[in-house]
Amino acid sequence: MEATTAKILTVVGARPNFMKAAPIIAAIRVHNECLGVSPHPRDGSDSHIALQNVLVHTGQHYDEAMSDQFFSDLNIPRPDIHMGVGSGSHAAQTAEIMKRFEEILLRERPDFLIVVGDVNSTLACALVAAKISFGGNRTRPLIAHVEAGLRSFDRDMPEEINRILTDHVADILFVSEESGLRNLRQEGISDEKVHFVGNTMIDSLLAFKGKADESRILESLGLRQVQPSNGSANGTTRYALLTLHRPSNVDQRAIFLNILEGLEELSTSCPVIFPVHPRTQKRINEFGFERFFDAKNACEDGEKSGSTRANGRIRLVDPLGYLDFLCLMQHATVVVTDSGGIQEETTCLGIPCVTVRENTERPITVKLGTNVLAGASRDGIRQATRRQLESKVVGTVPEAWDGKSAQRILDVICGEIRKSQLL
Ligand code: UD1
Repeated sequence: MEATTAKILTVVGARPNFMKAAPIIAAIRVHNECLGVSPHPRDGSDSHIALQNVLVHTGQHYDEAMSDQFFSDLNIPRPDIHMGVGSGSHAAQTAEIMKRFEEILLRERPDFLIVVGDVNSTLACALVAAKISFGGNRTRPLIAHVEAGLRSFDRDMPEEINRILTDHVADILFVSEESGLRNLRQEGISDEKVHFVGNTMIDSLLAFKGKADESRILESLGLRQVQPSNGSANGTTRYALLTLHRPSNVDQRAIFLNILEGLEELSTSCPVIFPVHPRTQKRINEFGFERFFDAKNACEDGEKSGSTRANGRIRLVDPLGYLDFLCLMQHATVVVTDSGGIQEETTCLGIPCVTVRENTERPITVKLGTNVLAGASRDGIRQATRRQLESKVVGTVPEAWDGKSAQRILDVICGEIRKSQLL
């Protein structure tokens, strides 16, 4: 049977997008490889739909450490189009992405646009697609939003604005946890548009967990010793892993200071490893907070890792790639973070997590998983880290966080193609 081709344009822009999009790109590749080859097509009905994927990188994140490393770690092909937008204020960055993306959309004329997550690139591209006109029968692509429906109910977060607006212009909404279904219904979004598919970021985690375990990051940070005789690894030191980058936590001196003071007790009880986001590094220098930290990448040979414990300072390291970070997460005693995705990853891994925020748009990680909300106060952080250090709770992995979410997404897209008679 001859294949009909539907064109999908997938957008990535910033670090947390890459692990969410990677499994979808991989599933498209597998789908096409199976075309006409398998004697038993997976569901017997979409075997004749070929999917052409055009991968667009807006360039919101552009450093080797914030972007390129993730492409190689996650086996993502080089983007077909790199927009090279870079940093800027919210308005400038969003506007620049919109201007450049409009030209791309008019040229590529895809049948579907896939956007993931909640970053500025997500909203900017969805908004352009919602108002574009190609002329003729198909005036615009169908917009699919992956990770729809999450709400922190805190409109001071730029990501919350991005989530709400993206969901309201999307045609197909892929939901990762039960709260997303409730939130979308409450906002009047029709059930017909909404599909509960699970979490594509967990697809990546499950696919790369084994490979991440081969990383040598624990040895290079002196958290695990290797027997020189046979190369086998000895026991891993107890350590905490820290990430902080949210403007609400690090952009104001008093708030950031409170958080660092809240972490002092933890850093005297075990080494705290802190892969530092560029925004946070800038603030540390600007506010003169160097006293809380060991020099960046100090004692890489691991010989002096005990000194971190003695002086109670947090150990800064450069931002890490996907595999090294996943390895550190898997072996940590506790993870302290203000990231969204890490709350989900630790829940899946059963590692205790302290979230330095008052709220979360991912409540399932608190309800079923290993996450606790500490707020950003000194005492809140102290109490939560103390509790989580002793925690034996491994939690439950939420429904459909099973490594098959990208496949469910493709099934829905193929269903839409048949429905809309693109064939
Ligand atoms: C963005 C996302 C946030 C996500 C985070 C993960 C939005 C609104 N926010 O925040 O949801 O959790 O990414 O990292 O989209 N910078 C570099 N190199 C880079 C990228 C950024 O040095 O490759 C610096 C720039 O100085 C920039 C600052 O980091 O001004 C912030 O980058 P930006 O993309 O604006 O937002 P993030 O804080 O990274």
